[in-house]
Amino acid sequence: MLSWVKSRSRKQGDRPVLDKEWEEAERFIRLFYAENPSAGAVRSRLREVAAEIGRSGTYTHTPAELAFGARVAWRNSSRCIGRLYWRSLRIRDRREAGTADAVAEECVEHLTAATNNGKIRPTITVFAPDRPAERAPRVRNEQLIRYAAYRAPDGAVIGDPLNLGLTDQALELGWQGRGGRFDVLPLIIEAEGGPVLRELPSEVILEVPLTHPEYAWFADLGLQWHAVPAISNMCLEIGGICYPCAPFNGWYMGTEIGARNLADADRYDQLPIVAERLGLDITNDRTLWRDHALVEVNVAVLHSFAAAGVTMSDHHTEARRFMTHLEREERSGRVCPADWSWIVPPLSGSLTPVFHRYYDEAQLTPAFVHHMV
Ligand code: ARG
Repeated sequence: MLSWVKSRSRKQGDRPVLDKEWEEAERFIRLFYAENPSAGAVRSRLREVAAEIGRSGTYTHTPAELAFGARVAWRNSSRCIGRLYWRSLRIRDRREAGTADAVAEECVEHLTAATNNGKIRPTITVFAPDRPAERAPRVRNEQLIRYAAYRAPDGAVIGDPLNLGLTDQALELGWQGRGGRFDVLPLIIEAEGGPVLRELPSEVILEVPLTHPEYAWFADLGLQWHAVPAISNMCLEIGGICYPCAPFNGWYMGTEIGARNLADADRYDQLPIVAERLGLDITNDRTLWRDHALVEVNVAVLHSFAAAGVTMSDHHTEARRFMTHLEREERSGRVCPADWSWIVPPLSGSLTPVFHRYYDEAQLTPAFVHHMV
């Protein structure tokens, strides 16, 4: 990813030639000092960074730069509706954790700290960056907590079909799945050697069984979801440095679970079952049986998380917060990039204010990006 080693050498006086990577570093350092006036003089820090790049082909963020970079990566995440609280992201600086075991241990600690007994805290754990000619450890799982999927002999899928591929990889590495609908997958960590499996202890996985405030039968569907969505396969990019392993989480918005994970036909596909229990006429699209069932599943999700004392927002509240965020960003003189198709909730979009406008589509850095494999 970094090509400083190849391109840093030419000098003009004592200024390094501005290749693309140095530009990225300089742009970030300038941003940091512009937004953190108390940090001091940008010029001496730029000289320091240039010198370190000259020596080693890369440079090291200070803890303050790392924290700022991670928070701004969240602020720049154009698909995220939950960015109002970007400044509150808690940073766990674990750049020294180099082995698969150390990474696994810190992921476990991350879950405990982020779950916080249900009062979820937006948290990121940052592991080592890639260096020239040195690939840092990474986690293959898309999230720290993901449910396995198994193919039954009749072709049906048990579990979350989204994770068929990851489950196959785990099984190949020797994992023994229990064959259930909500089996938490082990972490697959790539470190020094090849990939290794590390099981998450069940004490750190908070899960919420789903019930409905009015329909007692809903509990019999045997549905549940985990409390913390912790994305673990995106690269945190700050000032030209790539942190390939930097799991981060916020709290869930109900529709992520109720209108997608449990409702999508290629996920848990629960709408036909719920509609049938509701006694709806499912022979005709125009009865809107899917729409009706979708609302009840979402009512159940919000109700169950509240009953379990687990932080979760609804799409009306989160959409209003996002409008506040847009206003604040505008007042700060910043562009707030947003992707309409991700920001608008998958249920009742037009009932929320985020539906009724367009957004800037800029791609800013620092950023969370998907690795190019
Ligand atoms: N939509 C993903 C899921 O259902 C989680 C993405 C991140 N969500 C969040 N609220 N931070 O698991």
